[in-house]
This record gives sequence, C-alpha cells and structure tokens, in this order.
Amino acid sequence: MDLPPHKRESVLPLPVVLISTISSDGTLNVAPWGNITPILRPLDEIVLASWLKRDTLDNIRATGEFVVNVPTAGMSREVMICARHYPPEIDEFVEADLIPHPSKTVRPPGIEGCIAWMECTLVEEICREKYVLVIGKVERLEADDRFFTPDGEMDPAVAKPLCMLCGKSGMRFTHPAGDGEYRSYAEMFSWEKGA
Ligand SMILES: Cc1cc2nc3c(=O)[nH]c(=O)nc-3n(C[C@H](O)[C@H](O)[C@H](O)COP(=O)(O)O)c2cc1C
Repeated sequence: MDLPPHKRESVLPLPVVLISTISSDGTLNVAPWGNITPILRPLDEIVLASWLKRDTLDNIRATGEFVVNVPTAGMSREVMICARHYPPEIDEFVEADLIPHPSKTVRPPGIEGCIAWMECTLVEEICREKYVLVIGKVERLEADDRFFTPDGEMDPAVAKPLCMLCGKSGMRFTHPAGDGEYRSYAEMFSWEKGA
C-alpha cells in the first residue's frame, strides 16, 4: 500500500526522551521529544527537530544548554504530564513530581530515575519556515549503572528504554524487546560470502 502523508509517521519507531532546560529567569522546563537522533557514532553530537512554538526551543536559544534524559518504559505517565502545554513560568519538575538529577557541565538538571543523561550545549540551528533542527554537542554522558553491563553497554531487558510508534490519533509506547542476537561490527568489514 502507498501511505499518504498523514500516515507516514507510524513507519519508523522513535526513541522517546525528556529534554530538560532552564529559562533565563531560572524556571525549569521538561518536554518529551521523539525526533532526536545521534549524529553518527560515537554520540559526540545529536540533532533534534523542534516546532517553533516550544518553551524548550526558547530556553535552548536563551541559555545554549539542555539535558537529554533517557526515560524507562515505566515513565510514560511523567512523559505525558510534561507533554501538556504549560505557560513558560510553570516548573514542569513540580507538575510531574520529578526529582532533579544534578548536572556537572550545564545548568539544567537531569531527571532522577532515567537511564542516562546527556548534558548538551547548542552548536548550531538549522532554521526552516515551520521547524528548527537543533544540533547539540554532548558535553558529558552519564549512565545509571543499574541499567548497564560492566563494560558500559545498555542492557535492554533491564533498562527498557521508552520508544513510540505514532498512530492516527495517538502514540503507541513500547520498548526494544531484544531477541538476544548480538552482531559484531567486524561483520561490516568482511565481504566473504556467508561470513
Ligand atoms: C512522546 C512525545 C514526543 C514528542 N516529540 C516532539 C518532537 O520531536 N518535537 C517537538 O517539537 N515536539 C514534540 N512533542 C511535543 C512536545 O513535547 C509538547 O508540545 C510539549 O508541550 C512542549 O513543551 P515545551 O513548550 O515546554 O517545550 C512530543 C510529545 C510527545 C508526547
């Protein structure tokens, strides 16, 4: 079937993150984000797509700083509370009962209970008529040991990072099931048949 434009968004599963920022007058803000991707490996930079009318975007522009928090699948309630359109003077940590997790390189705190925290600074904006692509430098990446193997790889069965599939009138929250298969990067450099 050919998918019309309004149905295309269900094709790609997206990660769900919570972006925490601080306004120039010190108000904390949190908003969920799905359109976010690393810029290649090893996660030195990320890019996120933002509609123009976002307190998150205003705060990133005002302070040059933000934290990308990776929530667990169990945090969908908090995600939806933070998705509401609060006025900029409302502290969304308070609204969603979130506990700040101290950052080391940027002013906005992360969110306690998340799997990982990327402390980011604004590098560049690519502005279009209706949206902006924000490129951020990951200054520091902290991960909660509970969700990672001793050599620093996320264990998806334990962490259950929140993901979503967009539908016609809502989002289907999910998380990577993990089928136990693990393929080596070395395979990409081998062109032997059947290797
Ligand atoms: C799961 C989820 C993902 C979202 N992803 C995005 C996104 O990628 N870009 C965007 O501009 N808004 C996105 N939104 C909408 C914003 O989170 C929402 O409008 C929020 O109120 C913005 O808050 P702010 O004005 O405090 O930044 C998403 C909402 C949800 C629930």
